[in-house]
Amino acid sequence: MSMLDLDIMKRFIRTCNDGWLQGWHERNGGNLTYRLFPAEVEEMKPFLDAEPRPWVPMGVTGSNLAGEFFIATGSGKFFRNVILDPEDSLCVVEINEKGDSYRVRWGLVHGGRPTSEFPTHFMNHSVRAAATGGATRVIYHAHTPNVIAMTYVLPLTDRDFSRALWKSATECPVVFPGGVGVVPWMVPGGADIALATCEKMKEFEAAVWAQHGLFVSGPDFDITFGLMHTIEKSAQIWVLQKSTGLPELQTITDDGLRAIAKEFGVTLREEFLG
Ligand code: 13P
Ligand code: ZN
Repeated sequence: MSMLDLDIMKRFIRTCNDGWLQGWHERNGGNLTYRLFPAEVEEMKPFLDAEPRPWVPMGVTGSNLAGEFFIATGSGKFFRNVILDPEDSLCVVEINEKGDSYRVRWGLVHGGRPTSEFPTHFMNHSVRAAATGGATRVIYHAHTPNVIAMTYVLPLTDRDFSRALWKSATECPVVFPGGVGVVPWMVPGGADIALATCEKMKEFEAAVWAQHGLFVSGPDFDITFGLMHTIEKSAQIWVLQKSTGLPELQTITDDGLRAIAKEFGVTLREEFLG
């Protein structure tokens, strides 16, 4: 038995590889974090390093996540390599009792640190855990090309993006009835983008990062990966449709969206409808 035999590690690694296969993770692009259940931490304890590495301040505080453990991709590590060398590409980190620092307890065997977006992931775990009664476990950031393309030509508003994505494929309003938030272009990897994304994630499960990618949250890998996949596919249809250069002759009407919501028992954000 080793760390890599644990079911949770297998599912984390599979999700990284699925993202690579989708073409969302050129080089070291993107990052994934998972907040472990206490029982999963117990299962993992025999495999943690004998000597924890030093505490590192995050520049942000999430006191509701004090003492929690996360699995995270490493900064500068390639999603493409996770399946081949998870011990080098991934880490397990522990949060301190104040909720403002982490220390590495496993992985990154050749050195390094968790993703540069760890402050953003951590703060968004904090916000989403509060918004969902603790249900959110996964935060995932990917460089989804069609969503990025949209951010050059659509106004950067939550309403414009949510409407365009809902109307690009019939089942989108069922998958993300709350819509998506939009964060303007910002320098990646610091406390500023963490705080701006948190503001959106108080209300939304997903945030578009202008000219950068997509940031999503969810209770497990299937739902979270599925949300990324659905939004990016919808964006692809939007881009394909615009790329024809032909005038749009028909689309899903706002009343059509309302009818889908009624049939599937979801509540659409009414202020985004006309
Ligand atoms: P990391 O390699 O530090 O995870 O950064 C990749 C990225 O996508 C930053 O937004
Ligand atoms: Zn990125």
